[in-house]
Amino acid sequence: MSRFLSAKYAHLTPYTPGEQPRDQQYVKLNTNESPFPPSPGVQEAAAREAARLNLYSDPECTALKAAAAELYGVLPENVLPVNGSDEILYFAFLAFGDEQNPFAFADVSYGFYPIYAAFCGVPMREIPLDKDLAIDHRDYLGIREHILIANPNAPTGTCLPVDEIEAILRANPDRLVIIDEAYIDFGGVSCVPLIRRYDNLLVIQTFSKSRSLAGARLGFGVGCEALIRDLNTVKYSINPYNVNRMTQAAGVAAIRDNAYYENNARRIIRVREETAARLKALGFTVLPSKANFLFAASDKIGGEELYRTLKSRGVLVRHFGKERIRNFCRITIGTTEQMDILLDNIKAILDAKGC
Ligand SMILES: Cc1ncc(COP(=O)(O)O)c(C=O)c1O
Repeated sequence: MSRFLSAKYAHLTPYTPGEQPRDQQYVKLNTNESPFPPSPGVQEAAAREAARLNLYSDPECTALKAAAAELYGVLPENVLPVNGSDEILYFAFLAFGDEQNPFAFADVSYGFYPIYAAFCGVPMREIPLDKDLAIDHRDYLGIREHILIANPNAPTGTCLPVDEIEAILRANPDRLVIIDEAYIDFGGVSCVPLIRRYDNLLVIQTFSKSRSLAGARLGFGVGCEALIRDLNTVKYSINPYNVNRMTQAAGVAAIRDNAYYENNARRIIRVREETAARLKALGFTVLPSKANFLFAASDKIGGEELYRTLKSRGVLVRHFGKERIRNFCRITIGTTEQMDILLDNIKAILDAKGC
């Protein structure tokens, strides 16, 4: 730390992103990226736009907003494109959180939530998952905090049905309910249509997972016009050109090529179900997942040991040190070939331990 760092940041613990190693080629199943490349149309659109990088991007993201509004079945005024969904989480903590307006979220959820809360000076309450490591929506009825739920949840993969989200919205009319749908395209049902009836709902989506654009940084907030206006006030106070030209063009093309991505999501779901069955056959406990990853634990090997041994064999998965989930690893669903390599390695590791 330099002697210039503001005292208000002296005790921050920043987010630790999943490993992006450069030392060797891994079978990379640790950060929930898509194993499929962007569609050819997206690649062409981004390359074309590269020739115009001397000009600032459209701060209103006009074309992208119109395309996203059509995709989500809402009006352009209901949509805010952002630099990855992380950015809209940040905007939301800034816009809606303060001493009088704390946030509540699950004790096991996306690791960035408590970090943004701390960074923005917003008090937080972590609500424990139930005994099956799922969110019990009844814990969120009539509470005093704004609510932030990843649905499907990460890193567990479990998903709440829309009627339970609606119960939360109804029971907290004066609290904001933010539903982070980063993984919704892998089998969950989106609550975007509810924004027409609930002015306290903000839905967050990303193109990082099902739409193969993690490296482009593109996410969306969807909510009533007033919420989007508030978030725009924050955006225009920080970084009006937050979505660059190539990403805006890539996003429009990705929406045009939606069928390609829907087909990829179906492939991921199929491989996820096959992989879950194969892990269970090896004695793993596997949580029911509606995401592009599985959360799995074995009595025969600890989560950290499995993560480390797999890494030494060239397969990267994610392990979290948090007490309640220490025994688990989060495994991104890749191609069938990648999952074959993962499972062959897990079998070999268990065999070597004599299990
Ligand atoms: C639940 C959840 N929300 C948001 C994000 C952020 O996604 P991005 O900033 O790439 O859109 C992630 C990334 O892994 C996530 O797991």
